[in-house]
Amino acid sequence: MSGSNLAPGSSQRTAASADAVMKGHGFYNEHSRPQQKADSLGLPLLERAVGEMTVPQGAEPATVADLGAAQGRNSLEPMRLALEKMRRRTAVSTPIVVVHTDLPQNDFGSLFALVERSPESYLRGVENAFALAAGKSFYERIFPDGFLSLGWTAISVHWLSKVPCSIPDHVYAQRAGQRVRKAYAEQASEDWRRFLGHRARELRPGGELIVVAVTTDDTGSTGGESLMDLTNEPLLAMVDAGFIRPEEYGRMNMPAYHRTMEEFTEPLRSGTLTEDLTLKEATKAKFSDQLWPEYEQRRDASTFAGSYTEFMRAFTEAPLFAGLDADRTPADRERLANEYFERMRSLIEANPERARWDWQVALLRVAKKRASVSIY
Ligand SMILES: C[S@@+](CC[C@H](N)C(=O)[O-])C[C@H]1O[C@@H](n2cnc3c(N)ncnc32)[C@H](O)[C@@H]1O
Repeated sequence: MSGSNLAPGSSQRTAASADAVMKGHGFYNEHSRPQQKADSLGLPLLERAVGEMTVPQGAEPATVADLGAAQGRNSLEPMRLALEKMRRRTAVSTPIVVVHTDLPQNDFGSLFALVERSPESYLRGVENAFALAAGKSFYERIFPDGFLSLGWTAISVHWLSKVPCSIPDHVYAQRAGQRVRKAYAEQASEDWRRFLGHRARELRPGGELIVVAVTTDDTGSTGGESLMDLTNEPLLAMVDAGFIRPEEYGRMNMPAYHRTMEEFTEPLRSGTLTEDLTLKEATKAKFSDQLWPEYEQRRDASTFAGSYTEFMRAFTEAPLFAGLDADRTPADRERLANEYFERMRSLIEANPERARWDWQVALLRVAKKRASVSIY
């Protein structure tokens, strides 16, 4: 991991200022089984969207955006499903282009190695299909007006464009007091409106967007609060031990917020954001912890703790350790991260129940209105 671009003492940073959000060299691909399960719940909506959306015919390409693709493994199945279904609605002469998007620092190398070589790749089964990439935040404009037939985003929009304020004594806003939670909720609302506003321009009339996202239950709980505490505790212990400086800990904020269903659907239902988008489906789904059944069967706390720590490391290391001071060498950073994840592993091994996360997922299907036909 390379150095942070923060000045010591700076408390705010954008999500893009971390090296990347996911741990590189294909690490996220290897440790993202729960996210894959969440993605699978969006597939029926994706199938319905492809069945009903407008599809270009002739030589004009149909373009699909995979927004927040990470290293691509969890995108293979949704993209394959979408392309196979689209191909049934178009002649082979209509090219289909998939654009995988993520932050510029994303590990696109691992993504392309997989998309080009995996037997499960959508490029295998669908003729005249192309894989491209765009390294740009989805809170900005990525595509020209009317360019996209279909958008897919899974387990990505909880990442905010920036940390709106620092979090005293925690790394997750959802475990903080009201003032911090309000600032994060406002940032999440602003980001979500920007995300939808850009997609409203980029989708072609009749195009569709599927969103799979972590959400909360009716009490405001994501189900992952205990894990959030497990993320924080080793850091506090390392500050006490003098390994991590208090100012560094002060910058170790996760730029993440899990919106409620109301927060997801409000701008789409009220029509305040744009008249162009309609909410076609909005449902909530749950699934239980994907690593727990294996633990329950074998009672092997050490293996469970190891797997859980790697799952956590895949998405927490880069955003947390971007908070280290600029004078930390790459070797310091590696040593501190290893120490931190070893402490997390021990906490989980001592009490596996604390890591258990039963997920709540929002499934949204949004369409851009079709062009009205004028009759003279
Ligand atoms: C948990 S991964 C999800 C990957 C994959 N879609 C899946 O379902 O497993 C979240 C991805 O969102 C990306 N991301 C975070 N903020 C982003 C932003 N503002 N614009 C584009 N991608 C972003 C991260 O870099 C990361 O690769």
